[in-house]
Amino acid sequence: MTRISIIGLGTMARTLGVRAGGAGHDVQVIGRDAAKAAALAADLGGTATANVIGDAPTGDIVIVAVPHAVAASIVSDYGPTLAGKVVVDISNPFDPAHTGLTTPRDSSAAQEIAAAAAPGTTVVKAFNTLFSGVLAAGETAGHPVDVFIAGDDPDAKATVSAFVTSLGLRPIDTGDLTFAHWLEGMGLVLLGQGIRRDDFSLAIKILG
Ligand SMILES: NC(=O)c1ccc[n+]([C@@H]2O[C@H](COP(=O)([O-])OP(=O)(O)OC[C@H]3O[C@@H](n4cnc5c(N)ncnc54)[C@H](OP(=O)(O)O)[C@@H]3O)[C@@H](O)[C@H]2O)c1
Repeated sequence: MTRISIIGLGTMARTLGVRAGGAGHDVQVIGRDAAKAAALAADLGGTATANVIGDAPTGDIVIVAVPHAVAASIVSDYGPTLAGKVVVDISNPFDPAHTGLTTPRDSSAAQEIAAAAAPGTTVVKAFNTLFSGVLAAGETAGHPVDVFIAGDDPDAKATVSAFVTSLGLRPIDTGDLTFAHWLEGMGLVLLGQGIRRDDFSLAIKILG
């Protein structure tokens, strides 16, 4: 059992909360609206708890499930509260037309979050290459879901990999945090295919 905090109350927060709670983890949801956070925690059931942004995350893993545009500032505002924790960035910094990334070519959303985080905070990219419905199902076309991760800290990646495995999913370590740029590009490719085919049950999988 791991303590998981999720910042955000939307689609991905709910999906990750359901999966994490279902796997026996203690889940804390944190949002900007106390009533909405309480309602999500009630829906998750079990030991799930609710807090508002600014309250301390109780999790060893803190999943940031908000839009890219606000993720780094939220992490920055938390400051040293996040030191010693593993922050998981799931964001996709897509432009409005879904033709590119809003981050510079030599950076990524995850690297921006890492730069905004207080010393001692480790950042891992994960879950951004999955549509929420596929993550909820845990499989697509009969294949278990791959969760691509990137990060600089081997222990943090091991922690996230163990969490992913506990959800019944397969972690794929792609490299250091600079690989977040390519994972965010993978997310863009996936979204493009989903839109073209009008099929959001698609997933990117390593076979063989
Ligand atoms: N949906 C997917 O299939 C998918 C897949 C992979 C990655 N992602 C990534 O996952 C992240 C969340 O996506 P989502 O689909 O869950 O989005 P969503 O359903 O729109 O939820 C976004 C959440 O962020 C919160 N939020 C927005 N602005 C905020 C602010 N300034 N301060 C605090 N909280 C704020 C919202 O708060 P309120 O609840 O108060 O409105 C909401 O709870 C995004 O970065 C996205 O790129 C999504």
